[in-house]
Amino acid sequence: MGTASGKKFFITTPLYYVNALPHIGHAYTTVAADAISRYKRKRGVDVYFVTGTDEHGQKLFEAAQGEQKSPQAFVDEMVVHFKNLWKKLQISYDYFVRTTQAEHPSVVQEVFQRIYRNGDIYKGVYEGWYCVPCESFWTPMQLVNGNCPSCNRPVKWIQEENYFFQMSKYRDWLIQYVKEHPDFVRPESRKNELLSRLEKEEIRDLCISRPRSTLEWGVPLPMDENYVLYVWFDALLGYTTAVGNFYNPQQFARYWPADVHLIGKDILWFHAAIWPAILRSAGLPIPEQIFAHGFWVVGGEKMSKSKGNVMNPDEIIQAVGVDGFRYFLLREVPFGLDGSISFEAIVSRYNTELANDLGNLHLRTLTMLQKYSSDRIPKPASLTGKEEDYYRLKERLVKTVEAHLDAFELKEALESIHALTAWGNKYIDEEKPWNLHRSNVARLKVVLHTLMDCLRSLAILLEPFIPDTSEKIWNQCGFQERFQQNWDEIAKKLDLSGIEIKGGTPLFPRLEVEKTTTESRRPESQPQGKSPRITLAEFSKVEMKVGQIQAASPVSGTDKLLKLEVRVGNEVRTLVAGIARSYQPQDLIGKKIILVTNLEPAVIRGIQSEGMLLAAGEGDEISLLTIDKDIPAGSIIR
Ligand code: ME8
Ligand code: MG
Repeated sequence: MGTASGKKFFITTPLYYVNALPHIGHAYTTVAADAISRYKRKRGVDVYFVTGTDEHGQKLFEAAQGEQKSPQAFVDEMVVHFKNLWKKLQISYDYFVRTTQAEHPSVVQEVFQRIYRNGDIYKGVYEGWYCVPCESFWTPMQLVNGNCPSCNRPVKWIQEENYFFQMSKYRDWLIQYVKEHPDFVRPESRKNELLSRLEKEEIRDLCISRPRSTLEWGVPLPMDENYVLYVWFDALLGYTTAVGNFYNPQQFARYWPADVHLIGKDILWFHAAIWPAILRSAGLPIPEQIFAHGFWVVGGEKMSKSKGNVMNPDEIIQAVGVDGFRYFLLREVPFGLDGSISFEAIVSRYNTELANDLGNLHLRTLTMLQKYSSDRIPKPASLTGKEEDYYRLKERLVKTVEAHLDAFELKEALESIHALTAWGNKYIDEEKPWNLHRSNVARLKVVLHTLMDCLRSLAILLEPFIPDTSEKIWNQCGFQERFQQNWDEIAKKLDLSGIEIKGGTPLFPRLEVEKTTTESRRPESQPQGKSPRITLAEFSKVEMKVGQIQAASPVSGTDKLLKLEVRVGNEVRTLVAGIARSYQPQDLIGKKIILVTNLEPAVIRGIQSEGMLLAAGEGDEISLLTIDKDIPAGSIIR
């Protein structure tokens, strides 16, 4: 698919169930859709990016009952968690659709009427199994060990008079359609999976209603008030509500059909079989593409609440930041395949590629600009073959990244971009600007200018993936006044000279993976009197300050650790300390303590600890070091 400027691009995520909090799976699809959208916008495409929530059905109804809330009150509360997470993750969606929003029921009802008029609806008796978590109907033959073949959970027996959609009628057309449109279902493995099911299994008509006597929470069926419409019929049509179907014809004409529905492999059948059949029957255009990515597994198992291995996005963000999380999701596995996720893997990816490679290139470059060029990008004299190679490499690289991103190969795109970071670091190591500073100032100017161009290019290339970092690089380099962060600016050979940089602060503090307690981070304890001597210069590297404890709470899963919020001057730091056996959280509030403030942060039980407090003693006999006069928090200890 091309991305010629001026073309439109309508991309969606699934409309997530709001029965529970959003987890990393939801974050994954949404971050991927965001990266693709940001890239297309950079290329001048008219992007419309939709996410949203699926708020009807039995699962929602039962979840609301469990909380003793009305379904509407429950979904109104739950949707906020999704919106907040998307805001935190910098998701640049254009529209958030909810299947309980005012415009939606009439969209669903109108489509039902059209299908009905087309002769594709009949009434009959549904007898079979139903999986509430998946909201799907199964035949006895389809069950695996008596459980839902999709999620492996128990199913319910249902026997109801219902309305049916003649899905069987569309089987042959669909098989042919999928075969004639090789890009309709991606990746290839999913297409084959779909075709094999379409060709080998009996395609039964789809039960498209639920009696109000068993389920009230849904869109009313237009001509029979005893029924509501099946939640998947309702939810899929949410994609069209999001672009004004029937109520904003101009917008609908501009964006429909979707260019891609990005989904997980769990809901391929609904999107690639049921959805096109419904649209065809209703006389509406079929989406260009269904792209089904793989699943994250935690410790080799599918994430599920009952297994207790659900990873909380907020904890990950707290540890590695929004961009650390976004980067991991998009970089770790080829988009389409399953992947394994763990704190160790996230921190390791963060440390190597972000803290080390990108972070170092950025900080080394800006520091050298400060030291050797009084904060200004110098005017380069004559370039050598090395720089000519650089500009050629960059031009080729942009084309490669484009090809990957046009095919949603997010991991491969990031790998290609990383080659530019690696080039920059190698260039510094080879050119040794700290020597050039003394021996060859003309050459130094060329090197510094080239490095700044490398940062400029990286900031644009990385924006779709890690927008916040990209912005930081851009602003610290001082580019915002002179240059555009546009895609077609990347490959250009620009004169950056004269720009004043705005200083270099580290982008990614290095993290340690901590498995158990703070103790393991402390150096081996030395036998009494045997500590190695250190110089005054070494000691003076340790920065210690007075801090005041503002909040304290136990860390779950251990009886040793407390999480502290400590105010140090104008900032509040989070600290994890092994003092839970000696102090009650409430007794610590207001205490003034002494902490080391320039220690590298460490992740302890998923919490990023930014410093270390000083204490004496062991086990349950720990005493915090404190001060005996009222010195303000933030004071430096000498
Ligand atoms: O299915 N790994 O909503 P849902 C990767 N409401 N992605 C995952 C994942 C995992 N472990 N777990 C979930 C529904 N996802 C319906 C959709 S659309 C009209 C209606 C992602 O809340 C993935 O995108 O169960 C998957 O398809 C989706 O969440 C399912 O979200
Ligand atoms: Mg699901």
